[in-house]
Amino acid sequence: MIAWTRQVPEAITRCELTHLEREPINLARARVEHGLYEAALASCGVDIRHLPPRDDLPDSVFVEDTAVVLDEVAVLTRPGAASRRDEVPSVRDALAAHRALRSIEGPGTLDGGDVLVLERDIVVGLTPRTNLTGIRQLREHLAPFGYTVTPVPVRGCLHLKSAATRAGPRLVVVNPSWVDPAAFPGWETVPVDPREPFAANVLWLGGSMIVAESFARTNGMLSRVTESRLVPVPASELAKAEGGVTCCSIVLRDS
Ligand code: GLY
Repeated sequence: MIAWTRQVPEAITRCELTHLEREPINLARARVEHGLYEAALASCGVDIRHLPPRDDLPDSVFVEDTAVVLDEVAVLTRPGAASRRDEVPSVRDALAAHRALRSIEGPGTLDGGDVLVLERDIVVGLTPRTNLTGIRQLREHLAPFGYTVTPVPVRGCLHLKSAATRAGPRLVVVNPSWVDPAAFPGWETVPVDPREPFAANVLWLGGSMIVAESFARTNGMLSRVTESRLVPVPASELAKAEGGVTCCSIVLRDS
């Protein structure tokens, strides 16, 4: 597997915020944590590739939002926050060698953080970042490859993947206050510990799963129900920017 990442930009202190109050972000610490995240990915056998730094784009470390990459095709997004749209061209350049490319066009908007791929069923959060036009375009791009695309309402958090992510071959970890677990039919769901509302964002890689180390209760629960090795990483600085462990990479199978 390959993971594309991008360094934490100097402008991170001006990042978009939707549900959190602004808190000071320590750039040096954020970069150390990001380096440990990359090291964790590498320890899972993932080959890290770096996108060009964009110190001027406050949310450019959150590369997940710029593309939805499947084995057959990659869909470049049109992020819902206008401040984030300049992040996409360099991702297009990077992915062009790996996948056939499609794009979401205006007035459609789509953030990759809203797109949860569950084998051939793709669930997409309907949020202030992702609209129905964007979801319809995604469906049209992916239907030829046999994917279904289903919108689901999300409340109280930035993206669908703040509320639910894949945590095993047939398992989804969910914050039921933010998304209805019934949105994932045919999948087992495990709820986060209610004291850890942000713990539903995990990066499942098959044999391993990257998790934020601060969610000890939910991670303990996950470790009892998954066969994957949990790889905890410090992620507190970028959490202040409403970022989680899925947000900081675009992971694809090398082909
Ligand atoms: N700060 C992450 C985002 O709003 O996209």
